[in-house]
Amino acid sequence: MSDARPPRGDDRRNSAPGAKPKSPAQPPPPTSRRVPWIVAIVVVGLAVLVGGFLLWLGSAGGFSARAKPTGIEAFLARAMRSLALPSRASHRKNPYPPASAALAAAGEHFAAQCAICHNNNGDGKTMFGENLYPHPPDLRGFTTQDKSDGDLYYTIRNGIRLSGMPAFPEDSPRQTWELVNFIRHLPKITPQELRQMRKYNPTTIFPEPLMPQSKPAAPAPARMPPAHPGSSAPSRGGKR
Ligand code: HEC
Repeated sequence: MSDARPPRGDDRRNSAPGAKPKSPAQPPPPTSRRVPWIVAIVVVGLAVLVGGFLLWLGSAGGFSARAKPTGIEAFLARAMRSLALPSRASHRKNPYPPASAALAAAGEHFAAQCAICHNNNGDGKTMFGENLYPHPPDLRGFTTQDKSDGDLYYTIRNGIRLSGMPAFPEDSPRQTWELVNFIRHLPKITPQELRQMRKYNPTTIFPEPLMPQSKPAAPAPARMPPAHPGSSAPSRGGKR
């Protein structure tokens, strides 16, 4: 029956006398059947790479927050941060021009809340700062000083995700703008100002007597043995 079909174009050879009529040409395996294999090979390849990386990481000491971020990590983190920063926030102007009394108050604020990570002079070389990943940048340096007031304001109020920089939404907007002025002032801070700031550092972080010690010592807890009657020596309650 099929022989009766008139020869057609390149199908002519099939019509040679005595040739077995060829069943409709066998198509190569359809691409849709090859795809799962390609996917499987890619998945296995990736699994081997990731597994190898984790094994290497385990033997190399794991991820330590003490390390310095690699160039590519720092680049990606910076790119993500600038993407996350609304341009409207960037362009906001600081409504409070720097004034010396306000700068002193902002310095005390910075000493109390920020210096545990950033240090009073802004270099970030504190126990916390040096062991965070990423480390806080030197706030006196170009990376920070080159940012707009609006950028710094937004960063302080909103923090930085996936980093040690917390958000500080509880301060009044004015307090935050004054902190921005203070960060601008950091490159020219004087030793005198730094000494003043030390009085406001949390004592838990800077163990030297930094907080004003003017208040009388707290009364001894009830379970402590009473001081010797008649002893005039001042109590050193709580000091170890
Ligand atoms: C617990 C630690 C910690 C505290 C407290 C902290 N910071 Fe930070 N801060 C960081 C870290 C870490 C970074 C860097 C994050 C990054 O690069 O992803 C940072 C970044 C910043 C930046 C961005 C600098 C830049 O170049 O982009 C500013 C501004 C800043 N902090 C201001 C403050 C102020 C002001 C306070 C206090 C109100 C404060 N920080 C409190 C850890 C802290």
